[in-house]
Amino acid sequence: MEKKISIGVVGLGQFGRGFVPIFKAHPLVGRIAVCDIDKKKLDSTAAEFKIRETYASLDDICKSDLDALAIITQHWLHAPQAIQSMEAGKHVYSAVPVITPRSGQSSELLDWCGKIIATCKKTGMKYMLGETSYFRPEVQYAMARHKNHDFGHIALVEAEYLHDTLLPASNLIKVMMARTGLSEQEVYKLGGGPPMHYVTHSASVPVAITGAHATEVSCFGYAMPGDDYYRKDTETGNVFSNEVATFKMSDGSLGRVIEARRVGHVGREALSRVVGTKASLEVTLKGAIWSDMKKADFVKVECRPKLPDPIRKFGGHGGSHPYLVDEFVRAISDGRQPKISAWEAARYAAIGAAAHESALQGGKLVQVQDWGDTPA
Ligand SMILES: NC(=O)c1ccc[n+]([C@@H]2O[C@H](COP(=O)([O-])OP(=O)(O)OC[C@H]3O[C@@H](n4cnc5c(N)ncnc54)[C@H](O)[C@@H]3O)[C@@H](O)[C@H]2O)c1
Repeated sequence: MEKKISIGVVGLGQFGRGFVPIFKAHPLVGRIAVCDIDKKKLDSTAAEFKIRETYASLDDICKSDLDALAIITQHWLHAPQAIQSMEAGKHVYSAVPVITPRSGQSSELLDWCGKIIATCKKTGMKYMLGETSYFRPEVQYAMARHKNHDFGHIALVEAEYLHDTLLPASNLIKVMMARTGLSEQEVYKLGGGPPMHYVTHSASVPVAITGAHATEVSCFGYAMPGDDYYRKDTETGNVFSNEVATFKMSDGSLGRVIEARRVGHVGREALSRVVGTKASLEVTLKGAIWSDMKKADFVKVECRPKLPDPIRKFGGHGGSHPYLVDEFVRAISDGRQPKISAWEAARYAAIGAAAHESALQGGKLVQVQDWGDTPA
């Protein structure tokens, strides 16, 4: 019989609150708790989802006997909170990214990846990054077709995260005001960090599809003339709103990712192209096209396995949310490493860290750090 697990959701903001009913409905979750330092959010979430077990802080919930915690707090808090939780004997699901260092230093991002992996090894706890791109239908479709050798050799995988800072549907200034509690003026004073430090949605795609890791990268940065948010006199000193990186992968293929925060576009975080020696896949806003040397046709990319009935109705980011929950809960129940383990997550972050360093040096080739494959 499959083992049921107990889990606490830490961070009940806009994003975390959406995960509470999915974890609660999962057939392998036997007990659920919620946690937030904001009492209003804690009480309203507990009441809405009829959850009796509540905790007023991460420190408190770490003292509980829960098996696992889902850390869905602000993005600059994730890594230290994940480590604190694993040290307290909890398996960890972390919202993306691994961390966005407020220092703006790529070396700090790499340090946190190394510390998370070291903590997994020391404590035996499992860590999973909740990377939504991994479970998007087009990425799962490309993974399946690669497994079937349908592309021939993969020569190139391209992915992009196009999210204008002032996008009406998700204005990043307003998001930062909500996450920091600062005024609009104070958020502008803080400034925007390097896009490549939030590379997870795009860089995860070539890594997930090929199963390889990046070895070296060259990246260029774009600074919008007169930009009032990405400026030198800010917390991180970052002037790039957009960064474009090309990298070599350990299987000989190439990856290219675009991270754009000043872009006239409705917004997109997705696989854009797989170029294979036998066939290729192009993913556009209007659909996916499979092409070989004779013809090109729109294809249906949904090929994900069926989810357990009680969580099938949930969606979010290409329908990825229930798949993320299912993968984490099953991995912990089975005692195996999750597919998006600490080692896999570090491969996404390391591309961004090296890419931003390259951009700062005008596109100079930079080696990408790697911590090896996920252990069994
Ligand atoms: N596509 C995606 O994967 C995606 C999309 C949106 C958000 N996210 C991630 O989700 C995370 C949360 O986003 P959000 O918009 O809900 O943020 P938010 O600021 O609205 O919520 C974070 C919550 O964490 C709580 N918190 C902070 N420290 C805590 C502690 N020590 N103990 C208990 N609670 C604590 C805060 O009080 C707050 O309620 C972000 O890191 C973001 O990167 C990912």
